[in-house]
Amino acid sequence: MCGITAYVGHQDALTFLLQGLEKLEYRGYDSAGVTILGDQKLSTVKTKGRLQDLITILKAQPLHGHVGIGHTRWATHGVPSNLNSHPHSNADETISIVHNGIIENYRELKDELMAHGYTFQSETDSEVVVQMLDYYYSDDLLAATRQTLARIEGSYALCILSTHEPDKIIVARKDSPLIIGEAQGAYVAASDIPALLEYTKNVYFLEDNELAVLKADSITFYNQQGQAIQKESVEIPYDLEAAQKDGYDTFMLKEIYEQPHAIAETLRGRIHENKVYLDELQNIDFNQYHQVYYVACGTAYHASLCGSQVLQKLTRLPVTAMVASEFRYNDPLIDEKTLAIFVSQSGETADTLAALRLAKSQGATTIAIANVLGSTISRDADYVLYTCAGPEIAVASTKAYTTQLVLLILLACYIADRLGFVLDAKLLEELPHISDHIAHLLEDHERFAKYAKLLEDQRDAYFIGRNLDYASVLEGALKLKEVSYVHADAYVAGELKHGPIALIEEGSVVIAVATQPQIASKTINNIQETIARGARVVLFTTAGQEVKNVANTYYLPEVPAVLQTILVAIPLQLIAYYTACIKGCDVDKPRNLAKSVTVE
Ligand code: F6R
Repeated sequence: MCGITAYVGHQDALTFLLQGLEKLEYRGYDSAGVTILGDQKLSTVKTKGRLQDLITILKAQPLHGHVGIGHTRWATHGVPSNLNSHPHSNADETISIVHNGIIENYRELKDELMAHGYTFQSETDSEVVVQMLDYYYSDDLLAATRQTLARIEGSYALCILSTHEPDKIIVARKDSPLIIGEAQGAYVAASDIPALLEYTKNVYFLEDNELAVLKADSITFYNQQGQAIQKESVEIPYDLEAAQKDGYDTFMLKEIYEQPHAIAETLRGRIHENKVYLDELQNIDFNQYHQVYYVACGTAYHASLCGSQVLQKLTRLPVTAMVASEFRYNDPLIDEKTLAIFVSQSGETADTLAALRLAKSQGATTIAIANVLGSTISRDADYVLYTCAGPEIAVASTKAYTTQLVLLILLACYIADRLGFVLDAKLLEELPHISDHIAHLLEDHERFAKYAKLLEDQRDAYFIGRNLDYASVLEGALKLKEVSYVHADAYVAGELKHGPIALIEEGSVVIAVATQPQIASKTINNIQETIARGARVVLFTTAGQEVKNVANTYYLPEVPAVLQTILVAIPLQLIAYYTACIKGCDVDKPRNLAKSVTVE
């Protein structure tokens, strides 16, 4: 899971490459590198560490040339090191590549190449690509690329340049994102749109197994069979500013504060006179399904858990939410009467994508809930609904989560309506006002910062909730551990007495969510069991609940119970955020994580 950039044009390539890598650092940041083609030779500079380390080296030793490729890496094969960093070149430094993805049969290919006398510099799977290009190259880089790709199993986004054909870059993709931009006097490519926006809003999406040859003044696309094909460019509707910090210290905080707007955008045009409009799905006959799966990873899974419970409640259909990495290996019962919903902010998560392809191959109807326009999951699914969160840069997902919740609640209402169930009018009346409630919650940030103080010296935190509140505490615990490194576990509150309560001692911090009316009092009783053992409790609940002995009780605004899942996400995100700040953590780039997980 890495970020790649490429430039071929009339300006210095390095400027584009570095600004692009800066925008892509969220995809990986354990090493970075560039290769520039100038004066008929390739010059490569790469280093372990953050992009800033590469920039420091390049300031002292600038590279000039009009063609170049760049890479920011998140290690999968081989430790982060200078040698394992990309770009990788062949022995005589005539061909250089950057790669995002995984070459699954690299060992076999490496053995074969070594038998032909090739030696390898790195421990990476990617290096086999450049060595194989060298092996196949005689006088046609495109032909060598085709021969190489035919041998590769796995996923790739690749950019290739060579001194033999110095006017071009060849790019190719399969199961890893790659977007091409048409800029002024240049063609550029990158793993994600923000890297291109400073140069152009006109982009081409490369499909799996397609290739493109980029030159300064022309572009040619080829399909898997090697035939030249035509493609239309697409204009990206948002600008770079949306992808920048906008005065906030961190992207995470900015994105937390963007939630009222992101939710309003996601709701735009979707509710009219208490009816939900998801016209993208109007051709589906929902009566044909006898079961529904929700499949996703991490935060998107937590949103799915909530969405699935809401759908089951409204329609009485059997609904299962599953983590994508488990789904495929769990022998799921899929047939033509299955509706499968795949939730992914990036739309590129490898496990979710693989689960989608499995469900499709077995006859299910598939719906993607994605945030990134043109992402692989959104294009592969039969139907797609977009959350309109805008670019989410911080590794920890915040606005993508709440917009997913909104869209999943809308989807549940829509399906229920199409199946002829009568909807709760209050829910649809209140949903358009949810952004106002969030704005008020954000004004209370100092209270949440105070709750975060309780965690200052803690190694552990315990989150409890029941029913829909359980999905909320799972997400609260994930947020806290990923940005502050405080170990946090989420429990179904009723399970405490079956084991986890043994961990509670004097000073432990318990964060409880009790917003679901039919079950809130039971969670509040469970809190008393932890207080009796010395726990300090923060409780999020609603007016009217009887609460005793809990000094840190926060009453959420009154909205229908289902919508509390959206509201309580805000304080839980802020508690995680402030705890991370108190502990001096790099909030936007937590260790060991990357934004888009394109490896299984
Ligand atoms: C946590 C987080 C991850 C992602 C997960 C799925 O804050 O961001 O858990 O939710 O990697 O990513 P997407 O939604 O892009 O499929």
